Amino acid sequence: MRKFATISLLTIGLSVAAQTHVIDVNTKKLGAPVQPTMYGIFFEDINYAADGGLYAEMVKNRSFEFPQSLMGWRAYGNFEVRSDGPFERNPHYVRLGYAGHSDKFTGLENEGFFGIATKKDATYRFSLWARCPEGGKSTLEVSLVDNDTMGEDQRFARVNVNIEGKEWKKYTAEIKSPRTEAKGALRIFLAGKKVTTDVEHISLFPVDTWKGRENGMRKDLAQALYDMHPGVFRFPGGCIVEGVNLESRYQWKNSVGPVENRPLNENRWHYTFGHRFYPDYFQSYGLGFFEFFQLCEDFGSEALPVISCGLSCQFQNPDPTEPGVHAALDSLDSYIQDALDLIEFANGPVDSQWGKVRAEMGHPEPFNLKYLGVGNEQWDYDEQHGGFGPVFTARLKKFSDAIRAKYPNIKLIGTTGPNSEGWDFDLLQPRMKELKVDLYDEHYYRNEKWFLSHGLRYDSYDRKGPRVFAGEFACHGANNHKWNHYYTSLLEAAHMTGIERNADIVHMATYAPLFAHIEGWQWRPDAIWFDNLRMFKSVSYYVQQLYAVNKGTNVLPLTMQGKPVAGQEGQDGLFASSVFDKTTGEVIIKVVNTSDKAQPLSIQLQGMKGTRTAQIITLTHDGDDDENTLDNPEKIIPIEGSCQIDAGKKSSLLLDDIPAKTFRIYKVKK
Ligand code: AHR
Repeated sequence: MRKFATISLLTIGLSVAAQTHVIDVNTKKLGAPVQPTMYGIFFEDINYAADGGLYAEMVKNRSFEFPQSLMGWRAYGNFEVRSDGPFERNPHYVRLGYAGHSDKFTGLENEGFFGIATKKDATYRFSLWARCPEGGKSTLEVSLVDNDTMGEDQRFARVNVNIEGKEWKKYTAEIKSPRTEAKGALRIFLAGKKVTTDVEHISLFPVDTWKGRENGMRKDLAQALYDMHPGVFRFPGGCIVEGVNLESRYQWKNSVGPVENRPLNENRWHYTFGHRFYPDYFQSYGLGFFEFFQLCEDFGSEALPVISCGLSCQFQNPDPTEPGVHAALDSLDSYIQDALDLIEFANGPVDSQWGKVRAEMGHPEPFNLKYLGVGNEQWDYDEQHGGFGPVFTARLKKFSDAIRAKYPNIKLIGTTGPNSEGWDFDLLQPRMKELKVDLYDEHYYRNEKWFLSHGLRYDSYDRKGPRVFAGEFACHGANNHKWNHYYTSLLEAAHMTGIERNADIVHMATYAPLFAHIEGWQWRPDAIWFDNLRMFKSVSYYVQQLYAVNKGTNVLPLTMQGKPVAGQEGQDGLFASSVFDKTTGEVIIKVVNTSDKAQPLSIQLQGMKGTRTAQIITLTHDGDDDENTLDNPEKIIPIEGSCQIDAGKKSSLLLDDIPAKTFRIYKVKK
């Protein structure tokens, strides 16, 4: 948890004004448990979240497998792209030969993801696979270059790597950067000019990755995830689970084993939006399922992988009967097998086929997978909408039957599609109950009006059906305001009081999307923004973090005139919820004032007597459209303070004047 600045709150004393909102919190009545999984993270490789983002590899197209083999590279001199390399699933490599004159150069230069960025005094691990196909020895000069410099030498760091022999071998070298450079490049010269040299899987990582792992994650970004205290970690998406067609769906089996042999996949976000087009956006799968599980373990999160149900993206393929576009109902065996094998990969013994793969990757102990999502935003069709029938749920049933038969303890997660209401949601929600999934995944990217008017969304949910996973949600500003700004984040905080109050039915909630590269985004708002050197946490990030850190263990009843505080009529834009934390003995009250006026509050802590000091945490700001930035990352952050609690006539009394447009958490020991 970050360090907050400390302020003191002025209490308004016992003389309560007429318009004071009286909130009752019954501290004696412990309600539903708040699940440890309640607040989590949703990871998808969108906005360069994986390659070019969390995954710390700095070389783009390291295996020359992009459809244009040299995309991301400048090649010069005598070179040839060949396709009989040492890695079966990544067969391309580059042959570097004599340039024809001792003054000429043969070589390659990689532009990285929006540049190769290095930090002063940081060390980088360069590696490649190479050989001298005709025998002998050669030398590669590897340098970090600044091509735009006015200085004498473009190279600001360099190292020689000696290559020897006809066999493919892995070579590594460390390069220390003497300066911070945002837009550098990686240059490789064939320095032993006459000896032909083949190069493959050319890689550059910072040595200082998250937990120092070689195939590692960017430390600052992984730390930001850790600091969110995610109870659950959903991966790998999102729409990339489905793919724009079956070939481009996320195939977890391709994402495990040695990185050199993980085949490239398209990334649908490279072309999903013509107005945000990134032709060099692919998935190397360097951050694959093993690394996801490992991160879950690092963060103490339950893993929640989601797999393809055999349907490609239904938005992009509206006719579910089109041959070859979706897997037919009677051809799902290999998809179902993928699901069963995934469970074996995560949990199986080391002598099982997939447990062995996990063990060989360095994790003989099981990952203890408990949840599995089948399908992302899928749906069925009624007569008014295509009449194709139970396209998704018929497939889900087949998965469910097979998974339940072999792994009865795995909790299955279905989906109610891309919408939080409407014909498709209404059709799917009862079917989730019929199919007896454990949870279903709801998505809502909605505007301010929706968030203000849906405070009671979960209060009326069927308590006998499956539990809810609010798997993707965010407030998207109306009127061309679809980007991060303070007010929409505040409304997310308001909405989450309803999630918390209904913790008996909502077991997981993950804001989406998680990451965005400043120079490569397709979708906003997002929780964490970064460039190649820096990052900042959005206000939405802080909202999620505040809920996760203050989630408590049990809901406490909280009402205003007997009603839930959910922005209802007469509640002046207030939203509130309360929990008790059995481990700390604290009553935790969350209040969000969405109105543009300060609101006097009188919170009656029933079941508590006498005076106390309460800790308060406040997220407030007076510019609706403002947001943190790379240059000013802490413009809007939670501030810690304290307030006095009075004895009150019947129970302890917390009096406050909550400022306009403010999210405030009160924590008091019982
Ligand atoms: O979060 C971005 C996208 O929104 C996800 O990929 C998809 O599931 C949803 O439509």
